[in-house]
This record gives sequence, structure tokens and C-alpha cells, in this order.
Amino acid sequence: ERGRLLFAASVEFLKGVVAMAGLPPADRIEVCFAGRSNVGKSSLINALTNRKNLARASNTPGRTQEINYFTTEGGPYLVDLPGYGFAEAPVAVVKKWQALLKSYLSGRATLRRAFVLIDARHGIKAVDDEILTLLDRSAVTFQVVLTKVDKISMAEREKVIAQVKGALQKHPAAYPELVVTSSEKGEGIETLRTIIATLA
Ligand code: GTP
Ligand code: MG
Repeated sequence: ERGRLLFAASVEFLKGVVAMAGLPPADRIEVCFAGRSNVGKSSLINALTNRKNLARASNTPGRTQEINYFTTEGGPYLVDLPGYGFAEAPVAVVKKWQALLKSYLSGRATLRRAFVLIDARHGIKAVDDEILTLLDRSAVTFQVVLTKVDKISMAEREKVIAQVKGALQKHPAAYPELVVTSSEKGEGIETLRTIIATLA
């Protein structure tokens, strides 16, 4: 109910940030969506907000190149992050935004929870683990969100959930519950809305 209400109210794009100095005032809590390039971060924000093109999604890995802030009415900022790992962009550019991503994940005091998206077809990879370790060190609670579950079978789903849960055991900052989602089919979206709406 609370989740439905928060996301039924208007969600607006605030700004794209390219340097820590450009972050909006830390006057409320925020949640961010992190994950490998192409994992479905922008699509998930669109599904949560029920908007087709609020966050720009694309089949080209590296679509989101800035830290994009969205405002909710009376709730946290929603923060769409550039992907890590493979991206179709020049090396120097990728390096710059990876550095920004790391500064952001370890240095934003009002970051209440980081949702780390993991493609359900791939599970946790070494590059994800690096980010999880960074979040541990920064004491930022993170929660894994499996994406694109519409692309796998129930048997594969069980397998990947077990793999992820196993990998999370060595991460003290991990929130133990996973959220299983499909932005395409809407699975798990209401659950995630409620989680976000009840953070304070
Ligand atoms: P970057 O900004 O490049 O890091 O990517 P991103 O993580 O924001 O991914 P994005 O939302 O742009 O989605 C990447 C591709 O995956 C797009 O072609 C989406 O349509 C597709 N996609 C995202 N979520 C789902 C899903 O739940 N199911 C399916 N089948 N496809 C999805
Ligand atoms: Mg994106």
C-alpha cells in the first residue's frame, strides 16, 4: 500500500551528475541501483515508476553514463547509476565514470540502501563481488535484486538464488533477502516498491 502510494505520486528526473561536487544536497535519504552494464537498472526504475522512458534504457551496454537522480514525493531519491564491467564506450570515459561510481558508493552519507542488480542468467561474477566488497568496507547496506527472471526456467531460478545466497555469506553489509524481478513482466516490482517506501 505504502509502496503503491509512493510510486503512484509523481516521480521526476532531477539531474544527471558527472562529479561528486554535482550531487544534490543531502537533504533526504536515497536508494541507488547499481549493477553491471546492461543488467537492467534503468528498466527497473521505469518499471517501479510505471513510466516507459523516465530512465533511458537500451540494448547497448553503457547507456547510462551519469549518476541520474529522480525525486519521489516525500520519499527517497532514486539514483540510476552507470553500469560497471563491459561498456561500449571509450576506455578513458569508462574509467572516469567507474571512478565516480566508486566515490559515490563509498562516500554518500545519505545512501540508505544500494540495490545491486544481478542478471538471473549469470549470477554473481567477480566484478560484482568487487562492488559488494566496496559496499562492505563503506558499511552501506546492499540488497541483491535478480533481474530478467522472465528469461530463465524455475529450475534455473532456484540454482541462481542458491549461488547468490552462498556468495552473500561473506559480505557483512548484505541484506539477507533477495528480490526476484522481471521489469518486462512486472514480477517483484510491487515488493521492491514496498521495500523502498518503508525505508526511513
Ligand atoms: P547501462 O545503463 O548500460 O548500464 O544498462 P542498464 O543496467 O540500465 O540496463 P537497461 O535497463 O538499459 O536494460 C538493458 C537491456 O535489457 C534492454 O534491452 C532491456 O530491454 C533489457 N531488459 C531489462 N530488464 C529486463 C527484464 O526484466 N526482462 C527482459 N527480458 N529484458 C530486460
Ligand atoms: Mg542504464
